[in-house]
Amino acid sequence: MHMNSGKGTRLFINEVATRDGFQMEGRFIPTDDKVALIDTLSQLGYAKIEVTSFTSPKAIPALADGEAVMQRIARAPGVIYTALVPNVRGAERALASRIDEFNVVMSTSETHNLANLRMTREQSFAQLAQVISIAQAARVPVNVSLSCVFGCPMEGDVPVETVLGWIDRLAALNVQGITLCDTTGMAYPTQVQSLCIAALERAPKLEFTAHFHNTRAMGLVNSVAAVEAGIRRFDMSLGGIGGCPYAPGATGNIVTEDLVFMLESMALHTGVDIVKLLEARKILAEAVPTEELYGYVPAAGLPLGYRGRAAGAR
Ligand code: COA
Ligand code: ZN
Repeated sequence: MHMNSGKGTRLFINEVATRDGFQMEGRFIPTDDKVALIDTLSQLGYAKIEVTSFTSPKAIPALADGEAVMQRIARAPGVIYTALVPNVRGAERALASRIDEFNVVMSTSETHNLANLRMTREQSFAQLAQVISIAQAARVPVNVSLSCVFGCPMEGDVPVETVLGWIDRLAALNVQGITLCDTTGMAYPTQVQSLCIAALERAPKLEFTAHFHNTRAMGLVNSVAAVEAGIRRFDMSLGGIGGCPYAPGATGNIVTEDLVFMLESMALHTGVDIVKLLEARKILAEAVPTEELYGYVPAAGLPLGYRGRAAGAR
């Protein structure tokens, strides 16, 4: 494969364990545990951390303490602290917490949107437009996570033209970026390449992020396909925890430890310190003791004398 990326190409990593990961837990996770983990993550070199979601505590009980977490974490300079914002109420809460960026969500699949957000896509879009104008009035950038762009667990195929149509409408609202979400791990590499290329062509001013779930073990190869297609921003989750509680069959995100190992080995610069990252996993394990943590690199350890080529070039 020829890589559409030179040695040292800069990638921007968004850690989503504390949002996409924790939202799957049916129980509330203690605020102290969240703060300890995020303060550790803040020192690892991430571009962005998705701290929490300002959703209804009935919908996502694990994350009922968004304000307290935001108030207590020590923000590291250079790290963007983002959070999921589902509606106007969430926007007000997020602004009060001085969030650096709003991550708003809607699905390209009508059925999934109804299941996850209890609204049609048109209703969601109208609500997003309101949330986006609140953010813009406060000069806070907005990213839109677009779910099920590579397929829906309830509808099957989502046509590329449908996805591109929503990208057009969101771009017209002057959002900063769009995340292409493989919500239940249906994507495969050739599809990833063609959709990412089409999206980048369609809205060249937007920052596109790839968000893969490893449900069918396609996460690593899909990530390579996305880099090859020109994507420079990735969501990933420590220990691979995560998934949408309102999408049947949703399982973990791509594993940060494995992804950072792969990307740094390929001389793609993630900024993330792999040694400290493997240590941070222990703090995650304390926060979610019953959760299975994934990852091959954490199980095998780093190869003898390993220095990622990107890291070695520093
Ligand atoms: N923050 C806190 N509470 C909220 C809230 C928010 N952002 N939005 C709604 N609520 C509360 C309301 O006050 C109301 O509480 P009450 O029953 O005590 O009066 C309750 O939640 C229901 O409110 P309603 O406006 O009817 O919303 P809903 O039940 O239609 O739910 C969402 C809509 C979007 C708020 C809810 O489905 C949600 O939070 N979904 C999140 C889904 C998610 O995060 N999925 C995973 C990520 S992809
Ligand atoms: Zn996800």
